[in-house]
Amino acid sequence: MATAFPDPWIRLYSLKANGLPALVREIAAAGFGANAVSSGEIALARRAGLAPAQIALEGIGKTPADLALAARLAAGGEPLLWVSLESTEDAAALASLASRKARIDVLVRVNPGVAPETHHSLAVGAPDAKFGVSPEELAAVIDAGGGPNGPLRWRGIHLHVGSQLGAVDAWRSAFRVGLRLLELNRASLPHFDTLDAGGGFPAPMNDADSDSDSMPSAAIFAKETARELRELPANSRPKRLAIEPGRSLVAASGWLIGRVLHVRDREPTLVVLDTGMTELIRPALYGAVHPMRALTSLGRPTEGLEPDSTMVRVDGPICESTDTFGVASLPPLARDDIVAIGAVGAYGSAMFSSYNGRPRPPEVAWDGERLTLLRRRGSLASLP
Ligand SMILES: Cc1ncc(COP(=O)(O)O)c(C=O)c1O
Repeated sequence: MATAFPDPWIRLYSLKANGLPALVREIAAAGFGANAVSSGEIALARRAGLAPAQIALEGIGKTPADLALAARLAAGGEPLLWVSLESTEDAAALASLASRKARIDVLVRVNPGVAPETHHSLAVGAPDAKFGVSPEELAAVIDAGGGPNGPLRWRGIHLHVGSQLGAVDAWRSAFRVGLRLLELNRASLPHFDTLDAGGGFPAPMNDADSDSDSMPSAAIFAKETARELRELPANSRPKRLAIEPGRSLVAASGWLIGRVLHVRDREPTLVVLDTGMTELIRPALYGAVHPMRALTSLGRPTEGLEPDSTMVRVDGPICESTDTFGVASLPPLARDDIVAIGAVGAYGSAMFSSYNGRPRPPEVAWDGERLTLLRRRGSLASLP
């Protein structure tokens, strides 16, 4: 990612994808700041060693306490990188907490109204999405936040088209919307110099994705972006540009390991694991398809074995019929066999829930030689 978007691009890791402290520390050490959507995520970023000036506060759900934290940090001389405003209400609430002596840098999240090439649940830059204001509402947000001379310093536009983008077209269209809005407002807002293009770079979900050219790489997004910038006179280009990848940095790094509880003779065969939507909700939430592999078959390691595989449906153990991982081609399975579900490093453990009284599973890193415990198994006492 840093090769495609080198300095002076500002690279912000989207903590929501996976806030595991050890992982965030590694990503920060690789030259990333963070984008946080709550005081909790700001605390995670700071624990990983990031300074407030490397952390952006964004998200549609910022609470009064989140905004008060941004104001307190600014008043204490350690302002956040910026706060991205999602509405006139956000703008008015932050302006009421800020002071002209410690102005807070803000972006405005704009919904570019494009057609993102992804699952509709991930297409947050589509016109009917709840995120951001329309380009026509930008002036009202600036007014609500006290205008050009109020306590907020208007720094630019924030975009995020969607996640797991299958093509660059929507990203490019949105980028153009951002550039146009910067250009239109620069005369009235002297500091309006920043375009944050968001995340959305796709992550391989299986071996076929990794081997094929079908998924646009970060380099292709960067090339399109550079082309758009070249079309502008140098003095019309944004002074600061940012990206906010989440999934593409961490998805491939995670595997969820489950054990078989039941095998039912159905059409297709039904396998129930001891792990499900509480550890990985994406399939139940929006039909995400993750690769699955059996690590044992009828008690024997599958490595080196070439057992006959058949299509089976793999479900979780939660008392919800949507708790399924879908179908996969797997060898014969019996109770206690081990199944691994792949590409769960993003939006997997981050979306954990303790529904059905299930403590968190442990999280372990494997460096090819050693296992390291990164997060302990939750105890019964840890249940809410
Ligand atoms: C505003 C914003 N930026 C960045 C991201 C990260 O997206 P991805 O994980 O697809 O890179 C998200 C994800 O929801 C987001 O909402």
